[in-house]
Formats: sequence, structure tokens, C-alpha cells
Amino acid sequence: RDSLYKSMKKSGRSFIGTALTLRDEPREDEIVDANFNAFTPENSMKWESTEPSQNNFTFDDADRYAAYAKKNHLQVHCHTLVWHSQLPAWVSEGGFDNKTLIGVMENHIKKVMTRYASVCTRWDVLNEALNENGTYRDTVWLRTIGEAYIPIAFRLAKKYNRGHAKLYYNDYNLEYNEEKTAGAARIVKLIKSYGGCIDGVGYQAHLASESTPTAPGPAPDQATLEAALHATADLGVDVAYTEIDVRMNTPPSAEQLQVQSDTYNRIAKSCLAVRKCVGMTVWGISDKYSWIPGVFEGEGAALLWNEDYEKKPAYYGFLKGI
Ligand code: XIL
Repeated sequence: RDSLYKSMKKSGRSFIGTALTLRDEPREDEIVDANFNAFTPENSMKWESTEPSQNNFTFDDADRYAAYAKKNHLQVHCHTLVWHSQLPAWVSEGGFDNKTLIGVMENHIKKVMTRYASVCTRWDVLNEALNENGTYRDTVWLRTIGEAYIPIAFRLAKKYNRGHAKLYYNDYNLEYNEEKTAGAARIVKLIKSYGGCIDGVGYQAHLASESTPTAPGPAPDQATLEAALHATADLGVDVAYTEIDVRMNTPPSAEQLQVQSDTYNRIAKSCLAVRKCVGMTVWGISDKYSWIPGVFEGEGAALLWNEDYEKKPAYYGFLKGI
């Protein structure tokens, strides 16, 4: 039986994952069981879910994912501690001064990391801190604390890392936008220059197989993908594809689905060509529930299984690349 995980294991890398939202779809459990050894909770560990009001931690939802991981012996790519999005207004519009906001960050990192110390294989400590031109994104963190918020977040994550989680910086468009990739490399160096520890950089890889209103196409060629991975991997950190999806204009033709399959194939190949690339996560299972159509109107069909849970050409292209 085809299995992404079996192929990944043979190629000696650590994980093949999916974004996971637990729902009443038994076919998803079967697919996870056959194909994946890791998942990223799609939403349940984000700040708005875990600390919706100050120091009021709500872990019921995230706990279900922790239990699912334990029951099924899956790695968890925990996601995410410091981010500007899905961040409740009490933080983003709270008007905290520098010292207080650092305290808010510390309390959050402490409570969430310690609770999931035994389940998190990796933690996205910081998500999407960069603009497309490589400068820092204007967020409450940057405005209040300055760029030091980045090494501070990683220092705190190390302090409360009671398990063995690898600490990651995670962002999108690092796969082809050299200015932004250089920004990620700068972040790695910045953290190290403060004496901090960063273990990996996550390349989200929300790509498009053809030009769409919201993305350039075709997706990067293999040499571009490998060069992008090397830009941070060569600094001595692990790299991974963390949120892969390959969108297109919908509804797709057979030809478009083939172009998508080739794209998935070279994404996989690029990871395997880079020694420091430890794994890959696809951002969901079925096109039925992908976040893409809801956010990028007229685009979608971005995953490996179609809306009826049938394997798409992309599944086989991806499998062949692993
Ligand atoms: C998305 C989820 O898939 C959606 O369900 C949610 O409504 C919004 O967030 N970058 C990230 C992910 O780091 O957390 C985002 O996930 C997709 C973009």
C-alpha cells in the first residue's frame, strides 16, 4: 500500500506531516494512519485559542490534539507562540509598555510550553515576522519591544523548554523570495548573536502551480527551492517545509492537476537534496477543508486528496519525489 511515511522513512528523514483539525471524518484518521507520522495543530495552539483573555488559559481544544498524538504515536509540530495573527485584541491593542508586554509574552510561552512539553517535537516560536522585502513586519511586538523581541522570544522558549522541542522560526515565501529568505537568515544570526538558540527554519511553502490573482506561477524550480533551503540551512540550523499547499485557479483541468503534481514532486525532491531538511508537512488532507478557497477567492484544489478523499495526481507526484 502506498504510504508517504514509509517512503520518508526509507529516505532517512524525520517526519512527514499534515495540518490537523479533528473532525467527524473517519477517512481522515485512516489517511493519517497510513501516510503521516506527524501533524501540526491547524488552529488549536494559537494564542487566540489558548489565552483568549489575559492569563485565562483554555487548553481543552489543544488537549484533544495532544491526546490524539499520544494515542497514535505522532510527532507534533506545535504552532505557534509569537505571531501577529490570531492574536487576541487584548494583546495587540492592549497598550502594554515594553516591560509589561515582555511579561505577557513570558507568561504565555511558559504556560503553553510547559503544558505540552511531552508532546511537542518542534515549536514554531515565532511566525511570520518578515515583510516581503525582508524588513520586519510592523506588529505590536516590534512596535513595543523593537527587534529584540525576537531573541527574547527564543530565550524564553529555551528557558521553558522542559521537553526536547526543537525551536523554529517559520514564514512563507521564503521558498523563492530572496530578500525575504535573507531576512530569515538575518533572524537566525540575530538570535545567535544574543547567545540564543534556534534549531530550525520552517518554510511554509504556500505556493501556486500557475499564476493566480494572489501568487506568481509557476512555482519555483528545484534549484531555486534548494538554494532557498541552503540560505538558512548553511548557517547550521535544520530546515523543513511546514505548511505545503499548491493552489491554482479553480475548477482545475486534468492538465492543471498534472502541473501541480510536478510541483509537489520537486518540492519533495528539493527537501531530500538538502541534508539539513528534516521533513515536510502538507497543510491539510482533503481539498474539502483546505483554508485556501476561503482566503483566496477562485483558488484552491491545493492538497493531495480531492474533496471526495481520492488521491490526486499530486499525491503520486509527491510520493515519487520522497
Ligand atoms: C490558517 C488555518 O489553516 C485556517 O484554518 C485559519 O482560519 C487561519 O490560519 N500561515 C500559518 C497558518 O502559519 O497558521 C495559517 O493557518 C495559514 C498561513
